Amino acid sequence: MNIMLFGAPGAGKGTQAKFLIEKYDIPQISTGDILRAAIKAGTVMGLEAKKFMDEGKLVPDSTIIGIIKDRLTEKDCTDGFILDGFPRTIPQAEALEKLMKGMKISLDRVISLNVPDDLIVDRITGRRVCPKCGASFHVEFNSPKVTDICDYCGGTLIIRKDDTAETVVNRLASYHAQTAPLFDFYSDRGIMVEVDGTKNVLEVKEDIFKILG
Ligand code: AP5
Ligand code: MG
Repeated sequence: MNIMLFGAPGAGKGTQAKFLIEKYDIPQISTGDILRAAIKAGTVMGLEAKKFMDEGKLVPDSTIIGIIKDRLTEKDCTDGFILDGFPRTIPQAEALEKLMKGMKISLDRVISLNVPDDLIVDRITGRRVCPKCGASFHVEFNSPKVTDICDYCGGTLIIRKDDTAETVVNRLASYHAQTAPLFDFYSDRGIMVEVDGTKNVLEVKEDIFKILG
């Protein structure tokens, strides 16, 4: 099964991806996580991307498309994958379509996690993430079992560098200008399904499981 999670920054893509990995045993492909790993490793690509990410702007399409080309052809993607935070622009979506066509595969479902902007700032400023496995938690809405420790891998949780109230404004602006048009792109292809992302984490999970079966 090839799934894409679609939604604004902080909508819950990463949180729901973790449940889908467990249920379907397919990998999560988060371009944000791949970029953060490149920054940590100090690669040229990572250092270039960092400038955009720190300002809440999108990283150029050519960089992102290159990352995805490499990642989709890895062995663990043979039985499917969960795209999280990609594509984010129409050129990225077109490149993905072309790439998947060449691989003789297609996207089965795009799940839109609908959350209004006014809830996003609280979600992002209270987020804690695991630098080891990428899991997301929230100090109030989705707290880990042990304070600041990842439920999944035991890593010590941190605050993401771009999770500031100032950067969120830019990330939301980028989302509305460049990413939101993908809603129509995938609706036109008949694979878009909307989920109320304002429900609690487990209710959203159940709604997604019902859709995917
Ligand atoms: P990325 O890492 O993808 O960040 P993002 O899109 O801004 O999304 P987030 O990870 O912030 O949100 P999420 O939807 O995963 O929410 P989460 O589940 O954590 O990208 C970072 C940057 O990299 C971008 O700004 C850009 O610069 C660059 N980039 C990445 N991909 C790119 C691309 N394709 N093209 C160009 N540039 C790219 O949840 C958020 C919080 O809410 C958590 O605290 C969580 O616990 C909580 N929460 C989750 N669900 C619920 C719920 N139902 N109720 C209450 N709280 C909830
Ligand atoms: Mg995420």
